[in-house]
Amino acid sequence: MRVLGIETSCDETAASVVALDGDAAPKILSNIVLSQIEEHAAFGGVVPEIAARAHVEALDGIVEAALADSGLDLADIDAIAATAGPGLVGGLIVGLMTAKAIAAAAGKPLIAINHLEGHALTARLTDGLDFPYLLLLVSGGHTQILAVRGVGDYQRWATTIDDALGEAFDKTAKMLGLPYPGGPNVEKAAQAGNAARFAFPRPMKGSAQPDFSFSGLKTAVRQAATAIAPLSDQDVADICASFQAAVADALADRVGRALARFREAFPGTRNPALVVAGGVAANRTIKATLERQCAEAGFTFVAPPLKLCTDNAAMIAWAGIERLREGMAQENGFDFVPRSRWPLDSISTPMVGSGRRGAKA
Ligand code: KG4
Ligand code: ZN
Repeated sequence: MRVLGIETSCDETAASVVALDGDAAPKILSNIVLSQIEEHAAFGGVVPEIAARAHVEALDGIVEAALADSGLDLADIDAIAATAGPGLVGGLIVGLMTAKAIAAAAGKPLIAINHLEGHALTARLTDGLDFPYLLLLVSGGHTQILAVRGVGDYQRWATTIDDALGEAFDKTAKMLGLPYPGGPNVEKAAQAGNAARFAFPRPMKGSAQPDFSFSGLKTAVRQAATAIAPLSDQDVADICASFQAAVADALADRVGRALARFREAFPGTRNPALVVAGGVAANRTIKATLERQCAEAGFTFVAPPLKLCTDNAAMIAWAGIERLREGMAQENGFDFVPRSRWPLDSISTPMVGSGRRGAKA
C-alpha cells in the first residue's frame, strides 16, 4: 500500500508518501513540511487568512516534491489521504480540494482524515504499537488524554476546560515579551530560572474531574509579572521556570489518574504504554516528568521523534493506510466537507469553550 498524505489544517503545509508492504514495518518514503512560522510571527499567532493563502501558494509544489522524494509516480499511489478537520477551515478547504482534484484526475480513492486520528495513530507507524494504549495529546489547540482502542475507536478521557497547554505556553511567552512561538522560548528562558521562586497554582490537581485547566495559571503568571514589573531577565527566567514546574506538576497529576484508569479499563494489556504527541511534547521538563511517572507505574513511555509528533503529513498518510487496511475508507470520499470542529470521540460530551480559541489541532 502506498498512500500520499496531505496536511494543511493550521500553519504547516505538508505532504508525504508512506508505504506498507505485508508484515514489514511501514516506511516513510518522503515527508515534507513547510512551516509558515515566519509569515505569522509579526502577529504573535497564526492568522487564518494568511495561512490559507500560504497553503494555496505552496501546496502544489510540496506535493510534487513529496512524490519526487518518494521515487514514485502518482500512478504507483493507491490512495490520497488528506486532513479534513479539525482546524482552520481555509487551510482545510485548500488541502481537501487539492486532494480531491488529484484523486479525481488520477482515478484514485480519496480518504478524508481526522487530524487528531493522525496524531493518535502515529505511534503505530513509528513504534509498531498494539492497541490499546493511552495517548496524551498536548499541542497548540488540544490538550487531551485518549484511550486509543482501535482504528476509529477512541475514548476521550480528559480534555481542557479552557486553554490548550501550548496556548498557555504561547500566552505566557507573549506576556513576558518573549517571541512567538512561545513554548520553545519559555523552555529556553526557564533554564536559567529558579522554579521555586513563584508558587503558581496546579490547576485541577487532586480533582475528581479528570480534565485539564490552564487559564487560572495564566492569570497567576500575569499577576506575578505585573506585581514586579519592570521585569529583569532573571525575573522572566524565574517566572518561566516556575510556570513550567506548575505545568509539569499539574500534568503529572492528571496523567497519573489516567494511567490508573487504563489499568482498570484494560486489565489484560500486557505491555501498557503512554504515547505523547503534539508540539508541547518537545519540552524536556514535561517529558522527563512523564518518563519518570511511566517508569513508576509500569508503563512504557513512547515519544515518537519530534518531527512526527508535531504537525506533518506522514501521520495523515499512515492514518489513510490504517483505514484502507481495515476497509474503513469508503465512508469518506469525494462528498466530504471540511469540518473546523471534529471531535475524535463523538460520545464524550463536548467541553464548553475548550479548544475553541486554539487555531491548531
Ligand atoms: O503540535 P504543534 O507543532 O502544532 C499544533 O498545535 O498542532 O504544537 C505547537 C505548540 C505551540 O503552542 C508551541 O508553543 C508548543 O507546541 N511548543 C512547546 C515547545 N515546543 C513547541 N511548548 C513547550 N515547550 C516546548 N519546547
Ligand atoms: Zn496537530
